[in-house]
Amino acid sequence: MITDRQNQDEDSAAPHPAARTVHLRAAGTSLLVELTEPVPRVLHWGADLGELPEQDAAALALTAEGPVLKNAIDRPRQFTIWPTEADGWSGTPAHQGHLAGTATAPRPATTATSYQADPAGGGELIVAMSDCAGSLDITVTYRLEPSGVLAVGAEISRSATARDRHSEPYDLSALTTLLPLPRRATEILDFTGKWSRERSPQRRPLVHGTHSREVRRGKSGPDSPYLLTVGVPGFGFRSGEVWAVHVAWSGDQRYLVEQLPEGAGGHASVLGGGELLRSGEIRLGPGDTYRAPVCHFAWSADGLDGLADRFHDLLRARPGHPRTPRPVVLNSWEAVYFDHDLDRLRRLAERAAEVGVERFVLDDGWFTGRRSDRAGLGDWTVDADVWPDGLFPLADHVRELGMEFGLWVEPEMVNPDSELARAHPDWILGPTAGPGPSSRHQYVLDLANPEVEAYLLDALDRLVREYGIGYLKWDHNRELHEAVHGADDRPVSHAQVIALYRLLDALRARHPGLEIESCASGGGRIDLGILARTDRVWTSDCNDPLERQSIQRWSGQLLPPELLGAHVGPAASHTTARVASHSFRLATALFGHPGIEQDITGCTPQELARLTAWTALYRELRPLLHSGRTVRADLPGEATALHGVVARDGTAALYAWVRLTTSPEAQSGRVPLPGLDPTAHYQLRIRTDLGHPSLHQASGPSWFTRAQETWLPLPGTALTLAGLPMPTLNPEQALLIELRKLP
Ligand code: GLA
Repeated sequence: MITDRQNQDEDSAAPHPAARTVHLRAAGTSLLVELTEPVPRVLHWGADLGELPEQDAAALALTAEGPVLKNAIDRPRQFTIWPTEADGWSGTPAHQGHLAGTATAPRPATTATSYQADPAGGGELIVAMSDCAGSLDITVTYRLEPSGVLAVGAEISRSATARDRHSEPYDLSALTTLLPLPRRATEILDFTGKWSRERSPQRRPLVHGTHSREVRRGKSGPDSPYLLTVGVPGFGFRSGEVWAVHVAWSGDQRYLVEQLPEGAGGHASVLGGGELLRSGEIRLGPGDTYRAPVCHFAWSADGLDGLADRFHDLLRARPGHPRTPRPVVLNSWEAVYFDHDLDRLRRLAERAAEVGVERFVLDDGWFTGRRSDRAGLGDWTVDADVWPDGLFPLADHVRELGMEFGLWVEPEMVNPDSELARAHPDWILGPTAGPGPSSRHQYVLDLANPEVEAYLLDALDRLVREYGIGYLKWDHNRELHEAVHGADDRPVSHAQVIALYRLLDALRARHPGLEIESCASGGGRIDLGILARTDRVWTSDCNDPLERQSIQRWSGQLLPPELLGAHVGPAASHTTARVASHSFRLATALFGHPGIEQDITGCTPQELARLTAWTALYRELRPLLHSGRTVRADLPGEATALHGVVARDGTAALYAWVRLTTSPEAQSGRVPLPGLDPTAHYQLRIRTDLGHPSLHQASGPSWFTRAQETWLPLPGTALTLAGLPMPTLNPEQALLIELRKLP
């Protein structure tokens, strides 16, 4: 359906009497938009409304409005897809800006709409609008993906034939994508965190006003709001209706939930996000366009697991999603840090190959002058003192051992103590008055300078080509502050991200087989913008399994396990000094994209044997782990956790029953295993490949004793409705439970 409506007059601001609606449906969710004039409105976003005959859609339109309130505007308030004060909307507007101090009261009106269904489910609705005040053309695209995730894109252009009175550009200060929420959505969950403790959940009630999370770090950050979720009170992993948004952008950004006393049209509150724009960066001359990052919205009736399921489906359906089995990694960082010595690294590689590693990554320390974190960033040539024959003796050895060779880089950064900084001090991002404080002794390169972009592309391209690199760990260890460039200190926060994306895209185009990991001091740059051009994330620098249980559980809210780097560290964690058992470290790292972050040349034969068993177990289970549904149980208290992966066809599952701390309760009572079919029959066994967990009890329960010896048949009713009494483990222990469905 394509419609064109030009020359809207003032009167058409009233809701259109004969409702024309567009209904997008996929995977049990619906978006129903009424093409009201001058601007459409969302009638419903949430549960699938089923097939909607025209009169039912019209009924939803008829019942969309609230009352006319006393002492308020004299018609029902509207909340449109491009909310402005022209509709009587007193909340966050869709866009803000000005044209040399004018055109601050936009009056958008639809010029065209188009709708296309996707045979796989969902479809796309595009609404084009124009705002005469600012000579702006606005386009909003709602794409309901087959996964049920709603990807909303928006762009705003200054008309190419701008006939406004001003020759000045239109200064865009904000563009926010918003969707309405119902009254029952009253509890907010989002995330915060710091280095080594990313994605820490925080909850609060929704009250009147704006809950706004603004990120000014030039990357999504360790405290990224990540997935701002609003739901019915007490929503959990397995239950409760929830609505969520993720901003697919790797720079400054903003998430918000807003509730005004008068509501939002017929709805109660709004959820949204967008890029946080720096004053003066986006200035649209005739023909210029600003494209907002896509905001991914999702709804579920089944709590946080329902949302995770949609996002995992969305990511797995991407043409660029990794299709090959995820190789076991050994990353050299915590094994040798900056102490690069060929013989030592060759021995490490040999041990790695022996225990079943498939990808060996040489971390920081290999390039010119890089003997510590104080020098060298920017000089992307191999250090001739440490590596007189280049990286060949190591890279070739790694390949001879049957592994892929990967390398660490941090392209956007520069140490003042580097040849690059000495040769091009003007390439450092910052004001003409001079850069502010360094961070980890480093600064950011000004990627908006085409010479810098060209230098980096050339340097990386050369490295990848020369050494046959299959994998880059792409790091980003500081925040962007005062991101301005040029003689007049123009802001370039947006341009920096665009240049980064361009650089990644260009490198990948030159090396189609190359995989890239997004790392930023661990998990400081995890978002669907960077993931559109990378193959996994380094989830956190913290390899302490106790911390990792939480970090991985919540990182998995958005990303499936195959995208989350999860490495086994040494017994004493390098980031927390906490000592953990080998089996707990191994079991925790199994539920991601596993690797080793440890000097395994110092391991005992018993430890090496266990590592070998672990890589074998991972290889056996990875088809399930990296394609199934992530499930997490809602348990009382914080002392235990139960999580797992259930095959999409329901035929197999692997769970980890985890004891985090002791608790006053001596036993668990019956604990239902989430995600199984109560009408099916299964067999179950305890996997002891990683050793037996240490127990805080005398013996039993009897099912557990038997399942350690043999497959134990059990009905779905017992497993997932009634539940199993779980053994009481000692703290920081995990038990692996494998299930297979019986025919
Ligand atoms: C960051 C990364 C680490 C490691 C170091 C190297 O901290 O997160 O994994 O690569 O840099 O300097």
